[in-house]
Amino acid sequence: MSGKFAVGVDYYPEQWPEERWATDAALMRDAGFNVVRLAEFAWVKLEPALGEFDFDWLDRAIETLSAHGLEVILGTPTATMPAWVMAGDSSIYRMSSDGRAATFGHRRGYCPHHAGYRRHAERIVRAMASQYANHPAVIGWQIDNEFGDRSYSAVAQTAFQAWLERKYGSLEAMNEAWGAVFWSQTYTAWSEIPVPLDTGGPHNPGLALDFARFSSDGYVSFQREQLEIVRAACPNHFVTHNLMGFGYDQIDYFDLASDLDFVTWDNYPRMWWNVYAGDDAARAALGHATMRGLKRQNFWVMEQQAGAGGWQMVVPHPRPGELRLWAYQAIAHGADGIVFFRFRTARHGTEQYWHGLLEHDGTVGRRYLEAKQFGLELQRIGAQIAGSVAKSSVVLLHDYDSRFALQIQPNNPELQYATQFAHWYSALHRRNVGADISSSTDDLSAYSLVIAPLLHVVTPEAAANLEHFVQGGGTLVLTARSGVKDGSNAVVNEALPGLLRDLAGVRVTEYDSLIGSSNGLRFDPNTVLDAADVTVNIWCDLLEPSGADVLARYTGGFYAGAAAITRNQVGRGSVIYVGAIGDAALPETLLEWLLAAQTAAKLETNQLEITERWQGETRLRFYLNHSADPQSVALGGQATSLLTGDAVSGILKLEGYGVEILTD
Ligand code: GLA
Repeated sequence: MSGKFAVGVDYYPEQWPEERWATDAALMRDAGFNVVRLAEFAWVKLEPALGEFDFDWLDRAIETLSAHGLEVILGTPTATMPAWVMAGDSSIYRMSSDGRAATFGHRRGYCPHHAGYRRHAERIVRAMASQYANHPAVIGWQIDNEFGDRSYSAVAQTAFQAWLERKYGSLEAMNEAWGAVFWSQTYTAWSEIPVPLDTGGPHNPGLALDFARFSSDGYVSFQREQLEIVRAACPNHFVTHNLMGFGYDQIDYFDLASDLDFVTWDNYPRMWWNVYAGDDAARAALGHATMRGLKRQNFWVMEQQAGAGGWQMVVPHPRPGELRLWAYQAIAHGADGIVFFRFRTARHGTEQYWHGLLEHDGTVGRRYLEAKQFGLELQRIGAQIAGSVAKSSVVLLHDYDSRFALQIQPNNPELQYATQFAHWYSALHRRNVGADISSSTDDLSAYSLVIAPLLHVVTPEAAANLEHFVQGGGTLVLTARSGVKDGSNAVVNEALPGLLRDLAGVRVTEYDSLIGSSNGLRFDPNTVLDAADVTVNIWCDLLEPSGADVLARYTGGFYAGAAAITRNQVGRGSVIYVGAIGDAALPETLLEWLLAAQTAAKLETNQLEITERWQGETRLRFYLNHSADPQSVALGGQATSLLTGDAVSGILKLEGYGVEILTD
C-alpha cells in the first residue's frame, strides 16, 4: 500500500455505451476519485470464444479513465464464467449440500476443486496479466470476486478424498481420528469416503470438520493459482481479493488473506443478511476489525455501499449523510482505500435495484454528491491518514475451526457463534473501546484483555499461547463450550474445559442446554463484581472451582447455588470463565466491570462512535455520529479539525450523521 489514500468506484464499462465512458470518467475525476475497479465480471467480453481474446474495448476504457487521472484495479473475471465454458462440461457446476447442482445464469456456479475449470481460469488470467503487465495505469488486481460456498459435487468428493490422503497418510490414521468405528463407518479405501451431503443426515463430526477445512482450502488454492500467474507477470502490481467481513463463515479468512498483499472487503452496513447481533454501526465496525486482524494491517473497502441494495427486494435507503459517514467509519477502523459499489445503477441483470452513485438514467443525485464531498475531502486529507494505525489493548479471538464445528453441531438451537461473538464485540463498541480481532495462535503480548468467545476447538498450540498471555499478566475471558473438542472434532478425553481446565482453575461437572427455559445469575457482592442479576436462556455449565474464585452462582433449578462464573489468578494474570450463555446482557455486565478494572480502557458511554489511528506520534481521533440527531461530546483539550483546519476545544458538536477528525 502506498502512502496515497485510494478513493474510487467499481465501474462496468461493458454495461454502458462507449460514448458514455468519457462522461462517467469526468464525473469520477470531478468527485476526487483516483482509482477504479474494472472487469471482474467481464469474461465473455474478454474471451468471447475459447482462446479468442478481445482486449480492445478494455484497453479503450482504461485509456479513457486514465486520461481523467484514474488508476485501475483489474478483477480476474472467474466468478462469472461464460455460458460456453459451462456448455462444454456440466461437471464444473458447484453442488450445494442438498445435492442440487448449480445451473447457468447466476454467478459463483463453479466447483472450486474442478481442475478443468481451473485451466479455463488460468487461460483468461494469464492472458489478462500479460496484456496489462506493463500498462502504466494498472496498479493492482483483485482475484475472482467474493470467493465462497462449499461444493459437494462428485469432483469435490474426489478432491476431498485426495486431500484426506495427503492429510492423514493412511486410512488407519483417518479412521482413528474420526472414531469411524462408530456406526460401522470405518473406511477401507479412500474412494469410499463421502462428502457430508444433508441428504444422508448429520455426518461424523470429524469428517464434517475436515470437509469444511477442505472446502476452505479449495478456495485458498484456487486463489493461489491465479495469484501466482499475476505475480509472475506483474511484479509491480498489488494482488488482493474482496472478502465478506465477519459475517461470512465458509472460508478460513486467515488462510485466504495470508497470500494477499493486503485485504479488501465489501462493506454493506445496511443489509438484510446481517442477522447477527448489534446495530448497523457495531456490525460494520466488527467487519472492519475482523478484516484488519487477518494480516494485522490496514485494508481497503473494495465495495462500499453507495445506495440502497436490492435484487428482488429493495433495502431501506441510506439516509442523507450515511454514505459519507460509513466511508469515514471504515477509515476510522483502518481502511486506506474506499471504493464505492457501484458507479451507475444497472438497468439490466440481477442487480437492477442495487443502487450505485448515479441513477439508472445516468443522472447525478444526492448519492453522487455525497460521495463527491467525501472524495474531495480525501483528496485534501488522505495523505495524512493513509498508513496510520489503530492501536488496541483488547482483542477478541476469532477461530474458524470453532465456528465450523459449531455449524456442524450448534449444541443448542439458539447458540450461534457469530451472534455470541458480536455480543462481546458490541459491548466494547458501545463503550468506544477499540478492539482487535486475531486468531488464537497470534502473538497476544500487545494486549491486556483477551476475549475468546466459544473457543470450542482447542489445539495444544492455542492453549499454550493463552497460558503464555495470562502468565505474562493478561486477563483472559473464556466462555462455556470452550475446550470441548480436539483438532479432529472429537470430544476431549478429559473434564471440560479440556486443555483450558488448569488455566481456568475450574472443572465443568455437568451442563444444561436451556430450551424454552432460563436461569438466573447472582453476582457475589463479596467479590469485585457487584452487579444486578442476569438471566440466561441458552446454556449453563455447572462449575467446580479448583483454585478459582466464584463471581456468580445460579439462582434456579436443581443446580441453584452452583458456580456459574469464576476467576482464576494465574501468574501475574487471571482467567474469567463465563459458564453461562444467554443474550447480550451478560457480556454487557461483565465488560462494564472488566473495563473499569482495565487501566488502559476509556469509558465513553455516549452514542457517538469514537476511534483512534496513530500516524507515528500523531493521534487522529474520529468522531462518528450514527444517529439522525445532533450530538456533542466534551473534548479533553485543544485540537485541530483535519477536515476544516479549524481549532476546536470545549464541546464538539456533530450534526446528524456528522463526522469529525481531530488531531491533538
Ligand atoms: C457483492 C458483489 C458485488 C455486488 C454486490 C451487491 O458484494 O461483490 O458484485 O453483487 O455484492 O450485490
